[in-house]
Amino acid sequence: MKHRWTARAGQRRRQFSSRLPGFYQLPLRERTRIAACAGELSTTETQSLENYGSIARELTDTFIENAIGTYSLPLGIATNFLINGCEYLLPMVVEETSVLAAASHAAKIVRRGGGFSSQSTEPIMTGQIQLFLKESCAFDAILTAHREQLLATANAGQERLVARGGGVCDLDWKYIQPLAVLIVHVHVNSGNAMGANIVNTICERMSAQLLELLPCEVGLQILTNLNDRRRVRAVCEIPAEDLSCPRFRGSAIIDRIVRAHQFACHDPYRAATNNKGIMNGIDAVVIATGNDWRAVEAGAHAYAGRNGSYQPLAQWSKLGRDCLRGELELPLAVGTVGGVTKLHPAARAALKILGKPTAQELAEIICCAGLGQNLAALRALSSEGIQRGHMSLHRNNLHQHRAVPHS
Ligand code: MEV
Repeated sequence: MKHRWTARAGQRRRQFSSRLPGFYQLPLRERTRIAACAGELSTTETQSLENYGSIARELTDTFIENAIGTYSLPLGIATNFLINGCEYLLPMVVEETSVLAAASHAAKIVRRGGGFSSQSTEPIMTGQIQLFLKESCAFDAILTAHREQLLATANAGQERLVARGGGVCDLDWKYIQPLAVLIVHVHVNSGNAMGANIVNTICERMSAQLLELLPCEVGLQILTNLNDRRRVRAVCEIPAEDLSCPRFRGSAIIDRIVRAHQFACHDPYRAATNNKGIMNGIDAVVIATGNDWRAVEAGAHAYAGRNGSYQPLAQWSKLGRDCLRGELELPLAVGTVGGVTKLHPAARAALKILGKPTAQELAEIICCAGLGQNLAALRALSSEGIQRGHMSLHRNNLHQHRAVPHS
């Protein structure tokens, strides 16, 4: 089919200029007023932006530039999670109906078979330094000879992190032949921090040293979100009888879930939807705990495509005759100290509800949310269909609360 491209944006002329020099310097109230005028907002609509909820006006202005208010989302609790033998209540921020119900239901099924088990690797984040070589040089020999010195210098600026057992722990590099570019990878144990700032600072510090060692020009110095040294894995095993529903026996549901999984393995259109369902669970806890869900999303999808074809992130198989086994593995960079996790009162509360986890513990919990969410979706899709459960809840909720008419 030939696609017809059209430009729709810009067809309705607006009565203002978006060129607003100094907008960022205006008091927040003034920025709100300007946006309200542009959007012809009613008083009620404007007030909805100024309802600061758990973050105060000052904090709003600190988090981002050009703030005009806040945007609220529901925070709920997914129940029934038994992870590595411990009970957890999972705070989730999401606007989609049935995500929490599905997660809680899946966790209830999984706990009958012993709950989720989850493990993680150390919180190793990786930074990339792009070096344009001006002439050919024995970069392998030079970097190998100066490796320890490079690590020590990078760590010299991170005393507190090093004292807590973190810091730069490894270096490697690759040469991209067609570009004549050398990429140095700096691996950093970021402890309980997500680590983006730490890694970016370290990259810039190390670049200065690399400039002295190699005949090069420095290009990008930035972390990779495909942080595949910082991985997490969750597993669940569910006896067939715990999966049965009025229409299907549990063993039939296992077969149908395995076939649904195979479908995703062979088809990126299905794999994308499958992984969206996993991210329903993951993002909701990532957001609730004040973490960067865009980083988590980028890492997850890059990981799903790491072998050249986009794959489902979780694996589902039949164990023995009558047991379903699910395993989800992905890179997951989340922190429990610093940044929004520290400043946002609701994020702080969410972390307390989770029992003040370490970064690794939080990643393990989040991975279980993703696996549970995937189980719930696959079970529904493989039995009564998604519309009956998920979408009927959605319809009911929307009908109960029809959108407030514009005044
Ligand atoms: C909807 O938000 C998520 C699902 O589409 C996931 C899936 O199809 O596996 C139900």
